[in-house]
Amino acid sequence: MTTAATTRPTMPPCSHVPRPYTGPARSEVLATRRQYTNPAIFTIYREPLMLVEGHRQYLFDETGRRYLDLFAGIVTVSCGHAHPTVTKRVQEQAALLAHTTTIYLHPHFGEFAKRLAAKMPPGLDVTYFVNAGNEANDLAIQMARLYTGNNDVIALRNGYHGGSPAAMALTSHHTWKYPTQLNSGVHHAVCPDPYRSPFAGTPSQIASKSAEDIRETIRFSTPGKIAAFITEPLQGVGGVTHGAPNYLKEAYAIVREHGGLCIADEVQTGFGRTGDHFWGFQHFGVVPDIVTMAKGIGNGYALAAVTTRREIAEKLAQRIHFNTYGGNPVSMAAGLAVLDVIEEERLQENSRVVGGRLKTGLQDLGTRHRLIGDVRGMGLMLGVELVRDRNTKEPAREETAAVLEGLRELGVLVGKGGLFGNVLRIKPPMCVTAADVDFALEALDVVLGRVEG
Ligand SMILES: Cc1ncc(COP(=O)(O)O)c(C=O)c1O
Repeated sequence: MTTAATTRPTMPPCSHVPRPYTGPARSEVLATRRQYTNPAIFTIYREPLMLVEGHRQYLFDETGRRYLDLFAGIVTVSCGHAHPTVTKRVQEQAALLAHTTTIYLHPHFGEFAKRLAAKMPPGLDVTYFVNAGNEANDLAIQMARLYTGNNDVIALRNGYHGGSPAAMALTSHHTWKYPTQLNSGVHHAVCPDPYRSPFAGTPSQIASKSAEDIRETIRFSTPGKIAAFITEPLQGVGGVTHGAPNYLKEAYAIVREHGGLCIADEVQTGFGRTGDHFWGFQHFGVVPDIVTMAKGIGNGYALAAVTTRREIAEKLAQRIHFNTYGGNPVSMAAGLAVLDVIEEERLQENSRVVGGRLKTGLQDLGTRHRLIGDVRGMGLMLGVELVRDRNTKEPAREETAAVLEGLRELGVLVGKGGLFGNVLRIKPPMCVTAADVDFALEALDVVLGRVEG
């Protein structure tokens, strides 16, 4: 599919013409941001990129330059930037009624919950809408604690579940955690991904040993009963890591033996991104008790959800519980439109086919570029781990940053992740085409060649 490219690869054509940008100069935008916004809010390139317009899988900077977006607003733009159907339905709803709260009736609220229930395994049919992934995870943990009467929660090392204090406690990278008192009772079991596992053996043996580590964690760190086990079917921020197909089945069985509920964090993996299935957990043959969603559910609009069984959801009703923006008519309109577009444009199928082509191409690059230590993931959720040495697996952190810069120069935007910042995260809008991924592979070939020297 790709050849050792030496020339500047050409991006596939696009008929969309961006509007002339008439706003403040980039330097002014940067200065204002630096002076008035919290310094914790970071940008990823040496020279921060300013983006002012989007069209499907493409983004445009203030000069009108086009980029192929392989990071999708951090795995959030599922249908494509400024998707006409989503935009129209949001605009129509905003012009009619933007907000009243759920203390009044509105048809979209129940309708979208019903549409989500139809996508879930039977029994998972009651939804609470919130605005972001961390809120969804906080609420899921709260519900599990109320339902089970237990407090302890098992999450996985290398996982990411958000930045609120409770979600930060679940998150398992020291780089994303503050040295403050977080939510208590959270313990982290070994990540089942075979590439950097402390266990030896085949991926399936490593998965079994990792599942057994949950039992050990429960035995040694909890009263022997737990409220929940939360995991991303494929870890996103952690660098697209996941266990062998037997992992979640074995893990869920151990968790349920100890009274816990199983929570699938589908914030990145949901809505068809992983190709063969609509939800990430379906790849592993398990049915969670609670599913949390955000990002792709709204194609960029603030929308998140927690779906569970009625008897679990009912435990919240013992107190007054309220979320001001959760379920507002505009976000519901966005969610309904996203589901329609995913179905009408067969985006899950596109994730499977185009994602498969991309993964094969990345594996092929792995045969020619020594920096590539591992290629993993499913559908359009792919990770490429860069290492200085394939035996020691020394993380190639600086080289990864250089690859990001080089790709940007050629018009391709990707993300990075993993504890060491050495995994390229490739998760484009699900409308990306075969021609786009062929171009991206050529660009990566060129850039890796340059970085490897
Ligand atoms: C798997 C996962 N869960 C939860 C979150 C938190 O979502 P939010 O940033 O919307 O709070 C993220 C964000 O990246 C995520 O990747």
